[in-house]
Amino acid sequence: MNDRAVSTEDGRAVSAKGDRADPAPSYDIQAWRRRIPILGSLIPMNNCSQAPQLDVTREAAEAYLDSWNGAGMDWDAWMAETHKAKIEFARLINASPDDIAVFSSVSAATAGLASSLDLRGVRRKVVTTEAEFPSVAHVWQAHAKYGLEVDWVPVRDEIVHLEDYDGVIDEQTLLVSACQAYYQNGYLQDVGAIARKAHDKGALLYVDAYQSLGVTKVDVQAMDIDFLASGNLKFLLGVPGIAFLYVRPGLVERLEPAVTGWFGRADPFAFDVRGLDWAPTAARFDAGTPPVINAYISRAGMAVINEIGADAIVAWTQRLTRRLIEGGRARGFQLHGIDDPTRKTPTTAFVCPEGESHHVEALLLKRGILAAARGPVIRLAPHFYTTLDDVDLALDALGGVFEEDLSA
Ligand SMILES: Cc1ncc(COP(=O)(O)O)c(C=O)c1O
Repeated sequence: MNDRAVSTEDGRAVSAKGDRADPAPSYDIQAWRRRIPILGSLIPMNNCSQAPQLDVTREAAEAYLDSWNGAGMDWDAWMAETHKAKIEFARLINASPDDIAVFSSVSAATAGLASSLDLRGVRRKVVTTEAEFPSVAHVWQAHAKYGLEVDWVPVRDEIVHLEDYDGVIDEQTLLVSACQAYYQNGYLQDVGAIARKAHDKGALLYVDAYQSLGVTKVDVQAMDIDFLASGNLKFLLGVPGIAFLYVRPGLVERLEPAVTGWFGRADPFAFDVRGLDWAPTAARFDAGTPPVINAYISRAGMAVINEIGADAIVAWTQRLTRRLIEGGRARGFQLHGIDDPTRKTPTTAFVCPEGESHHVEALLLKRGILAAARGPVIRLAPHFYTTLDDVDLALDALGGVFEEDLSA
């Protein structure tokens, strides 16, 4: 046994302070916690990296395995499940399932989108930010050989300033590629405002919502977003190996991705080897056989988020974030990014002694806390099922790591 700071009763974290006096979430948090087995032994604060397994996500994986084992092969059911995953993703962002394509990763979704852009005109520039996950920015840079030019919006003071897009987006800009949340510290960009800036100059907007979906309210129509991608293993409660791309209807007819495959055809089962037609919907961005088992699991995870609802999750996780920021400050930790819980996701980053963040992650695990190191920081990322006690215990553990373990 390690010297973890948590004990549990019926899946409930217990600490000296208790959280009974604090406002509770609008949903039955204890009922949800009973459906997350790992809470019996660890406090997951790594939701910005990999969310824990729920009973329903495990059952979904088993449903696929049972189908494979029982029926041997059931492509109709497997394809139907993949479509249901698109439906659930569409619900998350207020889109239609016809606007959604399925990929194996956000990197692949970005490459699919990049391969659909026409770089033969005067608009060949993609404006992106230094806060992008490297994967996304790397795809844009790799397209330089096809004539694509990349221009950058900087990270200043550990965030991206909206006004820094001015002057970088211009009449040569084809696309603005912006993350909704900065993977390093959860800083939320105002994607609606970025959409206005892009559209004012005749450019399109692509949003990487991987670090925000599940803990932020996203409405692609209200925010006027042209393209949006996310994977599933972070706040969407899923697994690696599946990602989704939203393509605004009305744009899709003009786009012919060179990254393609038989599922991108109008009728994948026509088997017309010489014909290259295009599905009329975002399905034209589908390529090869979809990741079926991942679709089962991701659908179940996204259904939980849709059932609880973004408003309720945002209300509770902002409360947790405030506790993290105030508790970190009280303990003398150095926050990375900003301290306004309404302008960030729950991902809250504290600066570690130089070169020590991964060591800090390992030491926290010994104390029963799952956290996620990234560059110079350790990230504590609570989710809808996290209690205020969990937050306090994680902060106490981090204090112990900083004060006792690292100086031992
Ligand atoms: C914001 C963001 N975008 C993209 C990625 C990478 O996604 P993938 O591995 O699916 O390409 C990550 C991974 O952590 C991320 O945090």
